[in-house]
Amino acid sequence: MIGKVCGTGSCVPAEVWDNQRLAEMVETSDEWIRERTGVARRHIARGEETTVYLASKASMNALENAGMKPEEVELIIAATISPDQIMPSTACEIQKNIGAVNATCFDLNAACTGFLFALNTAQAYLSQGIYKTALIVGAETLSNLTNWKDRSTCILFGDGAGAAVLKAEETGIFAQVTHSDGEKGGVLTCTSRNRIDYENHAAAPETYMQMDGKEVFKFAVSKVPEAIDELLEKAQMDVQQIDHFLLHQANERIIRSVAKRLKQSIDKFPINMEEYGNTSSASIPILLDNLNRAGALEKGDKIIISGFGAGLSYGASLIEWQK
Ligand code: ACO
Repeated sequence: MIGKVCGTGSCVPAEVWDNQRLAEMVETSDEWIRERTGVARRHIARGEETTVYLASKASMNALENAGMKPEEVELIIAATISPDQIMPSTACEIQKNIGAVNATCFDLNAACTGFLFALNTAQAYLSQGIYKTALIVGAETLSNLTNWKDRSTCILFGDGAGAAVLKAEETGIFAQVTHSDGEKGGVLTCTSRNRIDYENHAAAPETYMQMDGKEVFKFAVSKVPEAIDELLEKAQMDVQQIDHFLLHQANERIIRSVAKRLKQSIDKFPINMEEYGNTSSASIPILLDNLNRAGALEKGDKIIISGFGAGLSYGASLIEWQK
């Protein structure tokens, strides 16, 4: 059995902050941000637009796109590093909001690799025949974890949610590789708000995302092509047979470097970070939904999805587009 994507959805906050707005907050410029990252704008959650709100909307959009009712969903996995609360889980809150009364629900934290891990975990359940349908969601309000005074990180991130519905079928293509390197975890961190400084009633600086950008960059440009090569070998496929490479939208220069290392045209690497910035676990499902709704994916297309991020964690999965 293989879980096939039969619907996608996404939801981003209405408010948009362009680079010019950030240039009024920290010492930076539109030109620097575009040139060094590829980001022009990001969507920022306001008021009722919590992680659960965005996730629930994206989930409903995905179910509608799949032509499925919420009651048909048997498993919900929500990937997030910016949940609204520790408990109940984001997945259980999604279940409540959309009325997926028959689903088993849990969250997963693998930072920017979260959606990929959710996809692989759902595949494991579907391929064993434990569940027949799964809803996987990547949802973030990173604006809550961003230090808006730190120009080395605040220029990168945005808020949003993406979702996909998987249905178990008898035959099809799926392969995956995932890796974690906890030894290098220190290059990308964010401490729990439980460590809040109660004496001063202020959040400690380490409760915002801290990143050694150069190290993360070096890790991504070396490990993503390695994971893709390993995946292709496992699937016994040649890189030329792949129609689309959907990479985590962290930095356009990382994506261009991976395309070059794989000797593939950049046209096979869709990019939407100009509009959304880095939305961590939401970036890949938002991109998948954008492509689906733009009619850019054809039945039978071979798609490699690759994520990388805090942990450190990284990996790649191969799916065949069947919608
Ligand atoms: N505006 C203007 N100047 C800046 C800014 C800014 N926003 N930020 C840094 N600079 C300056 C620096 O101070 C430095 O100046 P100096 O040469 O006088 O010292 C210069 O620009 C170059 O700084 P670098 O840090 O070397 O810039 P770099 O080219 O490495 O770009 C960036 C920084 C964009 C953060 C890059 O390293 C990057 O994208 N790294 C990867 C991040 C990533 O992929 N994260 C994904 C995982 S996220 C997750 O899992 C949640």
